[in-house]
Amino acid sequence: MKIAYFSVTGQTRRFIKKLALPADEVYEIDPTGAFKEFDEPFVLITPTYEDNITEPVRDFLDTGANATYLKGIVGTGNRNFAQLFIFTARDLARDYQVPIIYAFEFNGTPKDVTNFKKAVKKLESQND
Ligand SMILES: Cc1cc2nc3c(=O)[nH]c(=O)nc-3n(C[C@H](O)[C@H](O)[C@H](O)COP(=O)(O)O)c2cc1C
Repeated sequence: MKIAYFSVTGQTRRFIKKLALPADEVYEIDPTGAFKEFDEPFVLITPTYEDNITEPVRDFLDTGANATYLKGIVGTGNRNFAQLFIFTARDLARDYQVPIIYAFEFNGTPKDVTNFKKAVKKLESQND
């Protein structure tokens, strides 16, 4: 399954690098560029910020048929935000009716890399 991600300060981008995936398996949502139109299932990884900052994520999901190919969301944030931890991912999961398959902080630990891969595999098996 492909991965689409958004990154403002580079933490999520660092996590993506740790996955060591081929370049065509991952897509970074670029707020200044045209949004890619997916034609196959993908997972979204999004950091957590006020809605105006993460607006490009929604604009990307609302491009073409992207929303129909979105199968799951991974949230990254900071647990110090307590009840606001990964609220962006939770709001998107509610609005686009897809599950949150994993959550981690910042650029993720080696354990997060392993757990993320497991969660994506599980989602893939459910979408076969
Ligand atoms: C201004 C600001 C607000 C943030 N608000 C939240 C928040 O409400 N909840 C949360 O879980 N993380 C919050 N974070 C943490 C980021 O989502 C987290 O550091 C994330 O890993 C950043 O990813 P990025 O570097 O790829 O943009 C905030 C960070 C900043 C700088």
